[in-house]
Amino acid sequence: MEFTRKNKQLLSRKATNDGHGENSPYFDGWKAYDSDPYHRSQNPNGVIQMGLAENQLCFDLIKKWILENPDASICTAEGVDKFKDIAIYQDYHGLKEFIEALAKFMGRVGGNTVTFDPNRIVMSGGATGANETVMFCLADPGDAFLVPSPYYPAFARDLRWRTGLEIVPVDCKSSNNFRITRAALEEAYEKAQRSNINVKGVIIANPSNPLGTILDRETMRSIVSFINEQNIHLVFDEIYAATVFSSPRFISIAEIIQDMDCNRDLIHIVYSLSKDMGFPGFRVGIVYSFNDVVVNCARKMSSFGLVSSQTQYLLASMLSDEDFVGNFLRESSKRLAKRHHVFTKGLEQVGISCLKSNAGLFFWMDMRPLLKEQTVKGEMELWRVIIDEVKLNVSPGSSFQCLEPGWFRVCFANMDGETVEVALDRIRKFVLQGKEEDHAVPETSKRWQKKNLRLSFSSSRLYDESIMSPPMISPHSPIPHSPLVPAMT
Ligand SMILES: Cc1ncc(COP(=O)(O)O)c(C=O)c1O
Repeated sequence: MEFTRKNKQLLSRKATNDGHGENSPYFDGWKAYDSDPYHRSQNPNGVIQMGLAENQLCFDLIKKWILENPDASICTAEGVDKFKDIAIYQDYHGLKEFIEALAKFMGRVGGNTVTFDPNRIVMSGGATGANETVMFCLADPGDAFLVPSPYYPAFARDLRWRTGLEIVPVDCKSSNNFRITRAALEEAYEKAQRSNINVKGVIIANPSNPLGTILDRETMRSIVSFINEQNIHLVFDEIYAATVFSSPRFISIAEIIQDMDCNRDLIHIVYSLSKDMGFPGFRVGIVYSFNDVVVNCARKMSSFGLVSSQTQYLLASMLSDEDFVGNFLRESSKRLAKRHHVFTKGLEQVGISCLKSNAGLFFWMDMRPLLKEQTVKGEMELWRVIIDEVKLNVSPGSSFQCLEPGWFRVCFANMDGETVEVALDRIRKFVLQGKEEDHAVPETSKRWQKKNLRLSFSSSRLYDESIMSPPMISPHSPIPHSPLVPAMT
């Protein structure tokens, strides 16, 4: 901080402000994991990483395809003749084969109900870069976007930090399974207007991170009507489109507007291969806009975050293999469904319920009955116990700007089956111990009580004022030895 003070005039405000959010207390979970990571044999009592929305369930299929297609890589004997052509400067529209294959892939993920135009695809560095690019195209510093809460914590960074935009949360509640209602949108919009905030649009992740739910057709139509009437933009972040693992199926916003009378210039999609294919390291993100001016502007901006041509080359080949893609998507949702089932059923057995969901790489766990007090403070206390004692890095609802304390996001696709069992076992023991202690005599030695964190199973709900304006933070830690990717999920 001393350095920051001394350099106040030397460096920019961006360099010295905390807009990135990495000093947030939510990073403590990541730090705990980083300093004591679980390993089956070498560190069996370590912290299990359940805060990382990574899809690691199908790498066997990817490996097999790569071995069977050595010419898809330019670093193999079979592909090296292409090396020079691919390594030199490329057109920022992207390799033709790549954007065509990606457009087809998006169509397939959307159930082949829409055809995506490759000319509308603009490349970016992951959905992170794509979300920021689209904000740069749609709004000016000081303008705001409405974001239904709970929402992806890094929106606070991606939408705001470098652009100077603001986020206005649209409060969604558990009483109707966190549905995005027209009334909630209107309330947030009007509140912003009363505060002289210029709302430029609404951005929604569908499927939702952290809820793992998808939007139904009626809700989507009502959101489109709302933005159309207000003449503001609508950005759909569809990064989890292919993680839907049971019915109802995923519906892209592109499908909804096909038969709606709305201004298409207001509609934009963000997509990425980080979740659906499990390639966050490849940084393949795109903006797909129905607005020609946005496409053109975003494309000029894409020079700051192009996808490496080597990556494009490999993926052009992989995504064009229709049999592989079909099999991969089927198998991936089968495995996600199974994993989700094992976890949520395991929790159900000890009385922990989760929001009903059918997508994503996580579920939304309801720990409200275990809170000592129904406040953000109570949630943070429970979270500390889960990290320090139960040794699981899950993410507290307040980091997603959830209005109601006691919800936690649990990621389930970034670990192997054995680790799942260990994690489940730890949760079971923790809950059962809490229940026993709740009925035991006070002077017995109790771990949670010692820490003044005895669990109460009261169902009363108090709302703390601080919930209304929780701190802006992302739980995703830029852990020291890996400064980029794990920070973003
Ligand atoms: C809703 C949402 N949008 C964007 C991102 C960033 O994705 P990428 O790794 O492609 O930058 C994530 C990552 O977790 C996310 O959950």
